[in-house]
Amino acid sequence: MNLKILGGDLQIESEQFRHLNNYCTSQGLFLTMEWKNGQYWLHSDDPKERPISVDIDRDLQRHELYFKSASILREVPAKAIGVKGGVRPKILDLTGGLLGDSLLFLSYGCEVLALERNPIIAFLIKSALKNASHPLLQKFSFIESEAFTFLETLPNVDIIYFDPMFEDVNEKSLPKKEMRIFRSFVGSDKDAKKVIVEAKKLTPKRLVVKRPRLSATLMDPVDVIFEGKATRYDVYLP
Ligand SMILES: C[S@@+](CC[C@H](N)C(=O)[O-])C[C@H]1O[C@@H](n2cnc3c(N)ncnc32)[C@H](O)[C@@H]1O
Repeated sequence: MNLKILGGDLQIESEQFRHLNNYCTSQGLFLTMEWKNGQYWLHSDDPKERPISVDIDRDLQRHELYFKSASILREVPAKAIGVKGGVRPKILDLTGGLLGDSLLFLSYGCEVLALERNPIIAFLIKSALKNASHPLLQKFSFIESEAFTFLETLPNVDIIYFDPMFEDVNEKSLPKKEMRIFRSFVGSDKDAKKVIVEAKKLTPKRLVVKRPRLSATLMDPVDVIFEGKATRYDVYLP
């Protein structure tokens, strides 16, 4: 077996376990999931790295506290997705990952539908959602899906948001520790350009692509650029 489960209710006879274990086998991965604090955590094969999970309530509470004294309207990601005055766009986040961006958008007051195609990450998200109860989650939905196929039946959204792990040859900085575990089994999203071309065709109000600040654009021309310290948001208008 390529997937080891420590505790929790995921039974090795279940369809869900087979799905995850088959994925690990097909990718040559040996992973361990541990049940802790009411949800599953993923261990890296490097014992020095801490296990990862999505801590939804904690992250939403942290954002809530922060925005008690800081203006949402000044945030670079908020500007990039078009949050202003009373406007709170409806977001389709094609690349849920560990939900960092989705939860941030939720805390701005946006409605968010997030996708994730990697079965292990999708499992961590679903496990975290079962354990979460923050009221903002009423505006959140999650679907385990590949973005490219999902875009064929695009729901009614204002913004398509895309944050692939697409590395460019000039990128020198090492990603955060958490991202290293992530990258070790999610890999690099080599099909990102194909997805962005498809998303651009459908762009309702804008398509927002998150990139490391100094990296190359995934598609040209970009209509508007919003730059943060380490991150850039390339905005494509219809
Ligand atoms: C850089 S991470 C996203 C991080 C996320 N924005 C966050 O703040 O936590 C990229 C994630 O998108 C997923 N992904 C990449 N391309 C995808 C696609 N075409 N369809 C669905 N998920 C995709 C990857 O599996 C990975 O989990």
